[in-house]
Parts: sequence; structure tokens; C-alpha cells
Amino acid sequence: MITGRIDPADAIADIDRRIFGGFVEHLGRHIYDGIHEPGHPTADEDGFRGDVVALVQELGVTTVRYPGGNFVSGYRWEDGIGPRDQRPRRLDLAWHATETNEVGLHEFAEWLAKVGSELMLAVNLGTRGTQEALDLLEYANVSVETEWTRRRAANGRAEPFGVRMWCLGNEMDGPWQLGHRNAVDYGKLASRTAKAMRQMDPTVQLVACGSSGRTMPTFGSWEREVLEQAFDDVDFISCHAYYQERDGDAQEFLASAVDMDRFISEVVATADQVAAARKSDKRIQIAFDEWNVWYLSRWEEQAKTYGPDDWPIAPRQLEDQYSALDAVVFGDLLITLLQHADRVRSASLAQLVNVIAPIMTEPGGIAWRQTTFFPFSITSRLAGATAVRVPIECGTFTSIRFGEVAAVNAVATLDDDGATLFLVNRSTVETAPIELDVSRLAGGAAKGLRVQEAHILHEEDMYAANTLADPERVGVSELDAGVEDGVLRMTLPPVSWAAVRLG
Ligand code: AHR
Repeated sequence: MITGRIDPADAIADIDRRIFGGFVEHLGRHIYDGIHEPGHPTADEDGFRGDVVALVQELGVTTVRYPGGNFVSGYRWEDGIGPRDQRPRRLDLAWHATETNEVGLHEFAEWLAKVGSELMLAVNLGTRGTQEALDLLEYANVSVETEWTRRRAANGRAEPFGVRMWCLGNEMDGPWQLGHRNAVDYGKLASRTAKAMRQMDPTVQLVACGSSGRTMPTFGSWEREVLEQAFDDVDFISCHAYYQERDGDAQEFLASAVDMDRFISEVVATADQVAAARKSDKRIQIAFDEWNVWYLSRWEEQAKTYGPDDWPIAPRQLEDQYSALDAVVFGDLLITLLQHADRVRSASLAQLVNVIAPIMTEPGGIAWRQTTFFPFSITSRLAGATAVRVPIECGTFTSIRFGEVAAVNAVATLDDDGATLFLVNRSTVETAPIELDVSRLAGGAAKGLRVQEAHILHEEDMYAANTLADPERVGVSELDAGVEDGVLRMTLPPVSWAAVRLG
């Protein structure tokens, strides 16, 4: 029997709802033929697919990072404003494609208004610098009349966009990044750009680029050196992490969240070490602004097939099809983000539509939910105000990378009306019978605490997926869970993710 407790005394922190953010990049069929397809039967007067808007709303993303990713490091934001028929076509060097610029800042902000999410912008610190970042900030956030704000009004938007959170470039530690540089050079650029942006708008919240992954050779020293330059000027440092099953080893893949957990702890320790050296009480927060399961090796193979003259418009790139196994790992990553709610104050699922996405579309056809859609939408919908640790006594399995790993991982959230538990059984072989003491929850058994909703994602064939031909093959089903005498009981089959709402 696996045992544990949900106890308000184990509270971690209030949850910043920006932890349920997403990410939209000009990449593949994300924008074009994804969110924007003027000829589609559900398209509105602006060319946005209504079925996609509805699914993004159901997904429950709070903020959306835009327009990249690697794309932003070569992007001229001015290309995406003004009359559409006068916008230039450009080569997108990051993804070897042609960018038509039919969608830019105005159109994307309008789409976000339909979806009901907040805009988070990234500036190009790859091929551009401080002045262009200032121009964009002035265009987006300033209300007095200037040349840029006059142009914004002429383009149909008298009121500022009021963008709160800004990323100072993207993955500048990565040799693949346009304008890649070393940590000290990037830190200096981030510092002076941040200072200049705050001189224009002191209310902005700024994110410095952290490492593109925990396996980067510069990981650790990158964060320290960047923050030694930019500590006083930024609020967040970013983390990016992608995971995939390798060599058919599902059990090892199911340990992925351990990597994310250590990654976060190590970045927090590094940021706090920089704070300590400066005798500063300031705490740099983490924006985990790219995370997901991504079969990167498939993209690397596809990229090799591109000839030097191939610059397609909206090609099918990074269109990973997710399995039930992927969704369990994905749900565990979300649990891990919530377990670090005290320092992870923003996160962005990378990405949203067609490109390593929970939502897929067919041109002229249907839109459907991938397996990963379910853990995200349910967690976003049911997560309460406060994250709470859930200590669990359970067995372990042996991971090549991490040693002994707990077979069950869980987190809970609390709100005025009750609690929600999110948990995974990471084992590929062991069923997990679970008993949790919930008697300390607001009145517990005495006040008739009961299960209001309980969902499980599990498939006998863990590689089952949703496809164009069979879009509802995988979903969630009702989990048999109940509370008796202050004890919550359920049984999780191997490779499963679950959510239980108590009220
Ligand atoms: O999300 C896909 C890519 O992954 C992003 O463009 C980049 O930032 C990261 O390497």
C-alpha cells in the first residue's frame, strides 16, 4: 500500500496563474494553417479558426509567449505591422522557411483577446539590439503621442497593448541561435536593454535567458555569469526543457520530471548564490518559458532533407504525435512545476497548435486534442490558489540517469472550497494502491469531504494516440476514488496520470 497525506501545513506557495502559460512561435503550421486559416469553414472575419479558439480556451492557457523561440532572433517586428499587402516576405533562418508576415503583433493580440489570454513578448537580441527593443516597447506600451504610437493608432490600435512580461532574447546560450554569444556578453546586453526598457516603462517584468537545457555544457555557469551582469535589472531567469523517449526505454522516459525538478532547484540555488554574493534580499524568479515532450531527433532528421533553396511557407514541421505515455510524462512535468510554485512564477507550454502541440489541425478539416491536452486542461481548470506538498511513501525504480526514483509523484492545491490532487504512477509494471490521509483538510471527514471529480489518463497500449483518422482514441475516464473516515483511496494502473477534486 502506498501512503501519504494532504495537509495544509505542507503548503508550498500561492500559485501564480502564469504557470499555466503557453507559447506560440512563427514556426511550421502554428500560425498559418493552425490558428489562422481564412478559408476554413469556422474562420471568423479576421481569418482565425473558431474551432481552434474554442480548444485553446478549453486548454486554459493564461499567458502566451510570442513570437519565438528561435524565430525571434532574426525577426523584424515592424514587418508584421501596417497594411497586409505591403508586408515583406522574409527568410526565416531559424526554421528554413518563408515568413509571409500576414500575422503580426496586431493580429496576434486580437487572437489572444478572443482566446482570453495575456500577451508576453520576446524581443530580438540575436540580430538586433536595445534600440529595436525600445521601439517595440514604445509601440506596444506607450500612450503619449510619438511617431511609433501614431503609427500604432494608424494601424487600428489607439490604446497601448500593455504588455507586462518581456523576454530579453531567446536561448542565447545555444550555438544554433542567431546572434548566440557568451554569458558575459549576453548578460551585459540584457542588462543595458533592461535598463533602457525600464527607463521607458518601469512596470515591465523582464526575463533574462537562462540555459536551453540542463545538459548544455555551460549550464550553471551561464546562469551565474548572466545574473552577475543583469541581477539588478531583471525579475526572472528562464529555463527550457524538452524530453523524449529514447531507445524504447519507457521507464527511463518516465523519470523525466526528476530532471526538471533538479534543473529548477539548481537554477534557484545559482540565482540565490548571486544574490548572497551581493548581500541582496532580491529573489530572481523562474520563467520556465519552454517545456514539453519533444521528439527533437525526428526534427533533426527532417531538417537534413532541406536543400539550400527550400524555403517553404508554413511547412509541416515539429508535428509530433503524442501517445498516452507522453501524456503521463507531460502530466508529471506539470506536477513538478507546481511543486516549485514558490519560485516558478511563470511557465509556457511549448507550443500550442500543430507544432509540438496539444492541439492539431487539418487544413479545411477538423481540429483535435492530442493526449497531452488532457493533463494541461484539467490541471489548469482544477488547480486552486495554493500549492501543497504531498509526501508519499512508495516504492522506487532504478533510473540510469537519476538512481532510485519514486514510482508515484503527486502535488495538491488548496482553495476555499476544497483541494485537488494531481498524481502519476511512473512505474511501467506496478499497480499503485494509494491511501492518503486527508483528515486535516478543512474539516476533513467530519465535514463530509467527498470526491467531486476524479479523472484518469491510462491506456493498455501506452503508445495509443489521437490522430486525424481517430481523433478521440485517447481521453480521460472516470477514476474510482472515494473518501472514508478521512482517508482518500484509489488505485492507479502502471503509466497513468490522475486528478482528484475533493470538496
Ligand atoms: O519550441 C521549439 C524551439 O525550441 C524554440 O524555437 C527554441 O527556443 C527551442 O530550442
